[in-house]
Amino acid sequence: MHIWGAEVFPSPTNKTHAGREIRKKYPNTAGSLGIAISEAVEDAASHKNAKYSLGSVLNHVMMHQTVIGLETKQQLKIAGEKPDVLVGAVGGGSNFAGLVFPFVKDKIKGQKIEFLAVEPTACPTMTHGPFCYDYGDTAKLTPLLKMYTLGHGFIPPGIHAGGLRYHGCSPLVSLLVNKGIVKPVSVTQTQIFKSAILFAQTEGHLPAPESAHAIHVAIEEALRAKKQKKSECIVINYSGHGHFDLAAYDNYLAGHLKDYHYPKELIHKALAELKGLGV
Ligand SMILES: Cc1ncc(COP(=O)(O)O)c(C=O)c1O
Repeated sequence: MHIWGAEVFPSPTNKTHAGREIRKKYPNTAGSLGIAISEAVEDAASHKNAKYSLGSVLNHVMMHQTVIGLETKQQLKIAGEKPDVLVGAVGGGSNFAGLVFPFVKDKIKGQKIEFLAVEPTACPTMTHGPFCYDYGDTAKLTPLLKMYTLGHGFIPPGIHAGGLRYHGCSPLVSLLVNKGIVKPVSVTQTQIFKSAILFAQTEGHLPAPESAHAIHVAIEEALRAKKQKKSECIVINYSGHGHFDLAAYDNYLAGHLKDYHYPKELIHKALAELKGLGV
């Protein structure tokens, strides 16, 4: 970012009211996507020359990303395959929705196909959060969204898949989880790095830790199919490479990574703040 001329301030910064308040309350916080969104929205609202562009969660972002699933459909057709399982990692939900949404109609019409949405155990929004109205950011600047949420005040532990450290989830993906069309799964960070390394060694691509969540579950699905002596077509969304995550791989290989399981107390505290929003 510096190379292309940006001035970079790690969030929470002292440049916004939201950032300063968070720093006062949690001086050693690792930050979160919810906090960064509050700062970005505030900055855009208070500067005439600034615009805020949504990167995930909202419906129009999900729709734009469906080019992924539409292309996947074409590729599968060329390969003469029908998918049995589609797997994607979920932070805000956009890469997962992009892959899966074009196949939802097929499932509703009766095609046997499983959609697996993978999240970290450290930020288990879909597997442990309620489906209710909440803010999309920590400082409550966004409109309320009906979604699975751990509470806008929840700051996830500092795992390496930073893109999955979001307290909420796309309302459209949330609705499909709620209707039982999408199945949520949570996995730990040591599991995903182990699978990422197996993938790199066999496929020659080093995945982003976020994408490695999908890769891990795809490997588990493949082993399940093998055990059941079934030949299945399992599709993953490779949402990004891990070339900017080499320090994380270093930490994993040095045995420094910790797993965080469902941080119950932190989540209960954050959910208590949702009283009055329909929880
Ligand atoms: C490589 C990668 N994959 C997945 C995600 C998760 O975001 P989303 O759920 O919106 O696709 C991120 C977010 O930053 C990411 O960087």
